[in-house]
Amino acid sequence: MTPTSLPALEAQVRARPLPRHVAVIMDGNGRWAEARGLPRVAGHREGAESVRAVVRTARRIGLPALTLYAFSLQNWARPADEVGALMALLADFLESERGEMRQNAIRLHAIGDLSRLPEPVRRQLALVMAETRDNGGMILTLALSYGGREELVQAARAAAAAGPVTEASLEAHLWTAGLPELDLLVRTSGERRISNFLLWQAAYAELHFTDVLFPDFRDEAFLSAIADFQGRQRRFGLTGAQLAAQGGPDR
Ligand code: FPP
Repeated sequence: MTPTSLPALEAQVRARPLPRHVAVIMDGNGRWAEARGLPRVAGHREGAESVRAVVRTARRIGLPALTLYAFSLQNWARPADEVGALMALLADFLESERGEMRQNAIRLHAIGDLSRLPEPVRRQLALVMAETRDNGGMILTLALSYGGREELVQAARAAAAAGPVTEASLEAHLWTAGLPELDLLVRTSGERRISNFLLWQAAYAELHFTDVLFPDFRDEAFLSAIADFQGRQRRFGLTGAQLAAQGGPDR
């Protein structure tokens, strides 16, 4: 079926099992701005609007968990004015979405080396996380000052200090401990890399790459990524016949 409209696409997505956890590598803000002769920060500003749209839609369709790669450890090396602008956008987002997160039962979580964030952002983040701690609607995780290898190193150290290292003990020390299994990893802007994002967690995730630049990544592109996921057969190393015998390839 080819949906003819956004409501039809949303209805199609809602009618089938949703991924438990979707993560997005939000890429292409700079190119979006440069293509319009605008400063890069204009692309980040428009990207923040895409964040608002995607969060709202994810919550509306009932997604259990959404994780957004907002700032990597490597991003600290960008020009200071761009880093400052991104931190300001993040603080604005936290302030402007506080009410909506409370109203819509969204729980805010953050992963990464949060100690490196500027003090006002850290304070705002702690406040909104505390305010939304008991919400059960959707877990929104912002990856901030995040690196996948760094996450694995700290988890390995913590797991080793606590006892024998097993898959379960290592996983329990990841920053994502307690989040649902990552089912779908999306990257925008035509790049086909994972770029140090959720390296452990992506082990069995479906990957969806789209050429859409993140500032243009709104409802249609987001729902299309989920529809793409819903059309795939996930085998986890089994054969198609084994899965059919188990009653079908839903997960
Ligand atoms: C990548 O685009 C994007 C980022 C480094 C930052 C993502 C930030 C936002 C979407 C806005 C703020 C976040 C929140 C949560 C409100 P790029 O600059 O690398 O693009 P390019 O590859 O085209 O240069």
